[in-house]
Amino acid sequence: MILTKLSVSGGCTHNWKLRRNVVIVFGMSKRVIRFHPLPAGEEVDLVYFSSVSNNTHRFVQGLRYPGAGTPVRIPLRPHLEGMPRVHRPYVLVVPTYGGGNPAHAIPQQVKDFLNDPTNRSFLRGVIASGNTNFGEDYCLAGRQITEKTRVPLLYCFELLGTPHDTSVVSEGLAKFWTTVA
Ligand SMILES: Cc1cc2nc3c(=O)[nH]c(=O)nc-3n(C[C@H](O)[C@H](O)[C@H](O)COP(=O)(O)O)c2cc1C
Repeated sequence: MILTKLSVSGGCTHNWKLRRNVVIVFGMSKRVIRFHPLPAGEEVDLVYFSSVSNNTHRFVQGLRYPGAGTPVRIPLRPHLEGMPRVHRPYVLVVPTYGGGNPAHAIPQQVKDFLNDPTNRSFLRGVIASGNTNFGEDYCLAGRQITEKTRVPLLYCFELLGTPHDTSVVSEGLAKFWTTVA
């Protein structure tokens, strides 16, 4: 069903169709992501992405520190599930997914989350994960995000982290939130 015509810069006009959450322009699909604000009372101070292997999820679940909020997970399919929009400062925990291609080091879901100006404005620090087998690209997603956003890279850990990583990050976050507004 053709809904309307889309005018794009350069003066071209293309037919476009809307099927569920997917806009199709000239046969190429562009996913539309809807952002939903988190409930006002929700104390979120950690946002993370984790794929189906769930390493980062398990790491985040193990963190314990005074005043910890509820961690928010960036969904695997934000175009279907919606994307959270935060309303207070948070630290991002991100796994690296380049596999030798730096352009893909940051998961697309995390790029989409950070492309939202509100989400980007509340970012205060990044914790990255990866696998040392990837050599120079180990935890590259964290370095790329901190270079772009100018927030500190707080920590890197491998796969689902060790008990030592969990304790260092728990203590570090407790201290971090006492010094950062
Ligand atoms: C396809 C693929 C590409 C990866 N690329 C990198 C990489 O470039 N650098 C790195 O340090 N780790 C890389 N990893 C390792 C992941 O970051 C690591 O397994 C992480 O724990 C995955 O987290 P998750 O299970 O929460 O998604 C890659 C893993 C996969 C499966």
